[in-house]
Amino acid sequence: MSANNTKSTFSHEKIETSNFLMIVLILLVVAFGGIVEIVPLFFQKSTTEPIRGLQPYTALQLYGRDVYLREGCYNCHSQMIRPFRAETLRYGHYSVAGESVYDHPFQWGSKRTGPDLARVGGRYSDEWHRIHLNNPRDVVPESIMPMYPWLEKTLIDPSVMAPRMRALRTVGVPYTDAQINAAADDVKGKTELDALISYLQILGTYLK
Ligand code: HEC
Repeated sequence: MSANNTKSTFSHEKIETSNFLMIVLILLVVAFGGIVEIVPLFFQKSTTEPIRGLQPYTALQLYGRDVYLREGCYNCHSQMIRPFRAETLRYGHYSVAGESVYDHPFQWGSKRTGPDLARVGGRYSDEWHRIHLNNPRDVVPESIMPMYPWLEKTLIDPSVMAPRMRALRTVGVPYTDAQINAAADDVKGKTELDALISYLQILGTYLK
């Protein structure tokens, strides 16, 4: 270290011995790094465009998704298969962003008390789900999943559907007026259990 007085404000010594400068400069570097990594994702096709064939949820499936959120299924189930061999062998094709572009908010998650559900669609019959959701122990004796017996007893109020679909349209889900007008009929007389099952049965089927 030279003894003369030519050190600039941003000499290593100045920065490394000043808490304030160190914190501010670290924040700047991290913020810049973050922006460089994140911003392009908002414009890349692979993260913003739906995969081929992807359809917005039908009214019944959409209601089922809302039940999934309300009941907190995401506290035990992720919906994102990572691109590792062990994962793809167990669950199927790894998840891609284009599958979730109509999901607001998406349900990727990382908590796996139960299995990942990203590709559960079509794996079981409706009847299996019906029994399982009423009491998981009836089909999987060792299961610790809670039972949801009220879903079967609760009818859907058809009038809630159109506003929900219109709200999703404002954030980019391409529902047509015809679909929104038909929404109430789609869920009329159906139970929350019917809706949840129709949601589970579509999960991941676009990449199978
Ligand atoms: C306390 C944690 C917990 C919660 C909350 C929970 N589950 Fe589960 N779930 C599990 C466990 C553990 C299993 C594996 C045992 C079994 O099949 O019951 C499982 C299995 C499943 C399976 C079968 C998956 C497969 O590939 O075999 C489905 C479908 C499922 N859960 C759906 C749901 C839905 C829908 C909800 C919300 C209504 C929910 N779970 C809430 C823990 C949970």
